[in-house]
Amino acid sequence: MFYLTTAIDYTNGAPHLGHAYEKVLADVIIRYRRLRGEEAYYLTGVDQHGQKVQQSADQEGVHPATFVKRTTRQFLNLWEKLGVHYDGWAETTDPRHQACVQGILSDLQHCGQLYKSTHCGHYSVRQEQFLQDRDRDEAGNFGPQWGEVTLIEEENWYFRLSEHTPWLKEFIEKHPDVITPAFRRTELLNALERSSGTDLCISRPKERLHWGIELPFDADFVTYVWFDALINYISFAGYHAAPGSGLPDFAKLWDLSVRRPTHLIGKDILVPAHGIYWLCMLHAMGFADAHLPRLLVHGFWNSKGGDKLSKSTGNIVDPDALADKFGVDAVRYYLVRDIVTGKDSDFDLERLIMLYNTELANELGNLCNRALNMSQRFTAGILRHGGPPSADDLTLQHSLTESTAAYQAAMDECDVSHGLEAISRHVVHCNGYAERMKPWALNKDPANQERLASVLYHLAESVAHAAVLLSPILPDAAAKLASQLKLPSLTTLKLADLCWGLLPDGHAIGQPKPVFPRLVVEGA
Ligand code: ME8
Ligand code: MG
Repeated sequence: MFYLTTAIDYTNGAPHLGHAYEKVLADVIIRYRRLRGEEAYYLTGVDQHGQKVQQSADQEGVHPATFVKRTTRQFLNLWEKLGVHYDGWAETTDPRHQACVQGILSDLQHCGQLYKSTHCGHYSVRQEQFLQDRDRDEAGNFGPQWGEVTLIEEENWYFRLSEHTPWLKEFIEKHPDVITPAFRRTELLNALERSSGTDLCISRPKERLHWGIELPFDADFVTYVWFDALINYISFAGYHAAPGSGLPDFAKLWDLSVRRPTHLIGKDILVPAHGIYWLCMLHAMGFADAHLPRLLVHGFWNSKGGDKLSKSTGNIVDPDALADKFGVDAVRYYLVRDIVTGKDSDFDLERLIMLYNTELANELGNLCNRALNMSQRFTAGILRHGGPPSADDLTLQHSLTESTAAYQAAMDECDVSHGLEAISRHVVHCNGYAERMKPWALNKDPANQERLASVLYHLAESVAHAAVLLSPILPDAAAKLASQLKLPSLTTLKLADLCWGLLPDGHAIGQPKPVFPRLVVEGA
């Protein structure tokens, strides 16, 4: 089983472009694993507790439960609009999740992993955490990323995190596969080198924060939002679930026969949340090294010029409005095409339009139009294998084999951008081939019938392969192409079926209809 989760998004506001990127990327990876013939399960959801949510709700004068219901709807609607198909949906206010979190807290309390203590320190409301001296900047101040910082003294519950960090360091060193890309693993190891052996505060007093999961052994406190949220990856996978809960079979999802379960997260939540807290939490719960997840860390979409696309800087691009304006295909395509997984990229509307128009509307659109239209016009929609392949035909077949292999190599590494580049290379090759072979000229002389059939076949067969390869990224467009070509359903076609001759001799195609209309933008 390929079990993939994404970070669950804070519901203190509407979804932004970074959220959309992560969910679309995960959707593409899952669809690709299925195309490879694997069983795959995609869990995503929303992080509904914590101080930020309570504050946003207070500002509107509504109960946090009412507030998160509404924001959660916005996330659900966006995923539906963008064709993000998940198998499991995690909402941290779900009683089944709350029961799992409380069960884990009780177990940790029983085995002496939790203790109560008083701490006086600087507290960042925005990041919902106590700050350390190492969080100060060179001038000795807490920078703007922490928001308002106040000095507070309070009694809280702590998790003996420091008992696990020596193990964690050794574990990360011994298992290079656990954190990708490699430079993020280095970043985590450096952070562990600097970490001063402090424990993790896992509670908040109710007088300050009521919107959370109550500690099962101390009703004056709720659980720290990160401790609650991280557990979603196992609670919604059926970990310690009550019979009849409707949750999956944990042993099936957390199946290690092929690989570790994968958590797809953004770069800002590797250190300390996932890379330190979560791995140590699992270790304390008794998960063996071989049962720990893999962290796949993606980069950020920034606004042009390198600013963060965050709420605080007022630079959020609304993915919902973007999809309304440019269509779902253009948004999905751009979000995974113009960023290399692991790195950052600048969001640029002109490039969105340019990449869609060049690679989809012009190159692929042109190829589809040629292959389908000319087959309808010249050979009544019937494809014939034609005569023995010419040197040009063989070069085209070779280009397809090579592009497919490059696509697969990239997609296996979740590098969607290079996967798409590989498809585009073959499409460009096909358009060059069409211009050299000139099927429209061949059609003028009945003596060329066999040659014409061969050329049209090579173009149509290429479109068929491209539709299958594109299906994880653009499922709707790929389905339209498949239907025009009268291919079997895309869900039954697997990567292994992509050998030359997908379209049988004598195959009848359907009526062509443009799938990638050019984006025309006023003022552009
Ligand atoms: O961190 N580009 O929630 P969140 C790409 N609730 N990805 C981005 C991004 C950007 N500009 N901005 C944010 C949280 N993200 C916690 C997670 S998991 C148990 C709890 C990514 O709403 C970010 O890195 O702040 C994270 O992976 C996800 O969006 C949710 O961010
Ligand atoms: Mg965040």
